[in-house]
Amino acid sequence: MKEQNKWSKVDAYFNDKLLAADPVLDAVLGANEGAGLPAIDVAPNQGKLLYLLAKMKGAVNILEIGTLGGYSTIWLARALPEAGRLVSLEFEHEHVVVAEDNLRMAGLADKTEVIEGPALETLATLEARGHGPFDF
Ligand SMILES: C[S@@+](CC[C@H](N)C(=O)[O-])C[C@H]1O[C@@H](n2cnc3c(N)ncnc32)[C@H](O)[C@@H]1O
Repeated sequence: MKEQNKWSKVDAYFNDKLLAADPVLDAVLGANEGAGLPAIDVAPNQGKLLYLLAKMKGAVNILEIGTLGGYSTIWLARALPEAGRLVSLEFEHEHVVVAEDNLRMAGLADKTEVIEGPALETLATLEARGHGPFDF
């Protein structure tokens, strides 16, 4: 068995055992595929791990680098308290457009901001934009 197939089967096993159906996240993956984004999102079990880690930390201000279509962004943003905020940095314009649509669909537009540009440049602008310090 190829290594990738083995890992995909491990992911599928844990997804099946640990995750409930999630129509919103399914729709996000469908929208990503429809827009031609590469299917390089975190796996669902990895998304849930991110969610649990942010919850355990009690994260209030999350910084993500690499949004793609916002799949992991949604997992993380769901862990935030009411007043929590997440900023995600993304290089590709098309990915930003798809991610913002997906975040709206997930009801998380008010808690999240996707900033377009190379992270090495946008990171340096975060403080001036009123973001940070981050705790996750
Ligand atoms: C593996 S994907 C992210 C997957 C996403 N976190 C998820 O699980 O749904 C990596 C993303 O990082 C973006 N990216 C790559 N280099 C970047 C950079 N220097 N600055 C900002 N974004 C970058 C890519 O365009 C791509 O959308």
